[in-house]
Amino acid sequence: MMKKQVHFGAIIHGVGGHMSLWKHPKVNPAQSVSLDYYVKQAQTAEQGLFDVVFIADGLYINEKSLPHFLNRFEPVTILSALALATKHIGLVGTISTSYSEPFTVARQLGSLDLISNGRAGWNVVTTPLENSALNYGKTAAEHPSHAERYEIAAEYLEVVKGLWNSWEEDAFTYDVVKDEFFDTEKLHTLNHKGKYFQVAGPLNIQRSKQGEPVIFQAGSSAAGIAFAGKEADAIFAGGVSIEENKALYDKLKASATANGRDAEKLLVFPGISPIIAATKEDAEAKYLEIAELISPEKALAYLGRYFDHHDFSQYDLHAPFPELGDIGKNSFQSTTDRIKQYAKEEGLTLYEVAIREATPKGTFIGTAEDVADEVIAWLEAGAADGFIIASGVPNALEDFVTQVVPILQQRGYYKKAYETATLREHLGIGNKPSVYQKQLV
Ligand SMILES: Cc1cc2nc3c(=O)[nH]c(=O)nc-3n(C[C@H](O)[C@H](O)[C@H](O)COP(=O)(O)O)c2cc1C
Repeated sequence: MMKKQVHFGAIIHGVGGHMSLWKHPKVNPAQSVSLDYYVKQAQTAEQGLFDVVFIADGLYINEKSLPHFLNRFEPVTILSALALATKHIGLVGTISTSYSEPFTVARQLGSLDLISNGRAGWNVVTTPLENSALNYGKTAAEHPSHAERYEIAAEYLEVVKGLWNSWEEDAFTYDVVKDEFFDTEKLHTLNHKGKYFQVAGPLNIQRSKQGEPVIFQAGSSAAGIAFAGKEADAIFAGGVSIEENKALYDKLKASATANGRDAEKLLVFPGISPIIAATKEDAEAKYLEIAELISPEKALAYLGRYFDHHDFSQYDLHAPFPELGDIGKNSFQSTTDRIKQYAKEEGLTLYEVAIREATPKGTFIGTAEDVADEVIAWLEAGAADGFIIASGVPNALEDFVTQVVPILQQRGYYKKAYETATLREHLGIGNKPSVYQKQLV
């Protein structure tokens, strides 16, 4: 019997793989704004037959932000450049539904999808950081609540998907004899009037080879799971433990089923940071090289970001993790709930939690065989359909592609060549016909 096939994506985020990565002697501290670095990473991922390169994003920084966040490319712009530097790999970028307009975003992604010949994807986020409002003509207090952000996102997606259906597949006839540029029957005007958006349409760009860009989503609270079950093709999840991810995986698949969808067409990708070396000891040493670069102050600042830049320096570093009440509930809800829970359960100090979050080690560490075993264990346990590979140590992606990928191929869990063209096809979810086309079939 054919073994379950694993999918891979690579998150390219300059020096963002780890808070102190930029200080490592083998790392270019300016790689978050190096086109050359981004192109090389995307090409390495393509060499490894990955389905996706992934660009995360955020809309607010201050002096405590992670180095990568301070100075980095805007996703659609860099993905357009990567479209020309690659041939097969999907191009997924993060855009917020709380701080953008659906017409603009539908256009940008529609264009990226055409430029790349059907390889575009969108990581839909609702923006956890309330100070993002300050960059968009609002006060922090006007940042919508966690629940409302998902409500806005639901209507936003309805609008964008509606706009992507403005033109049927064969709408542009280019018939010189009839003097007909397009068939008026195949143009559909949205005329959306909702609670949050009024958008007339139609969109001024046609559908792509894959129909519409792939929808990724990266929130995993109850509201996030409900949203994903309805709207998402794939999920970028945290990759903490096999048990935790299995529970999330089951909830996501159940949410897809509850929405009348085929659960296999919602793929779950935990993010992991593999650390690969010739021996387990060498891999631990690689981890320590990075972990030891971080000061307690920086680790506290990193932790604070999840909790709306809460100032953790006011607490005793070595006392039990403080009681925070609802702080963090309106920002990274699922992440802050998880941190509060394990800190309590394991009786950890503030320092222990800060170091664990700022220098995550994970379980994908050891020899290439160890890491391949772990990939297979997660896959077989039903905790993942694929993984987003982050580079937390220098050359992590190169090591993964040249050492782990061949083992997975040998063991029958991974393809040996690109067999499909569009991102939807790579993910096994099928190209999307226009809603009007569907009615005809
Ligand atoms: C793995 C992962 C990646 C994420 N990437 C981004 C990102 O690039 N930009 C962003 O604004 N939020 C990002 N988020 C935040 C989520 O989109 C979401 O706003 C946050 O997790 C709060 O929603 P939740 O409580 O439903 O998880 C990410 C979250 C996770 C778990």
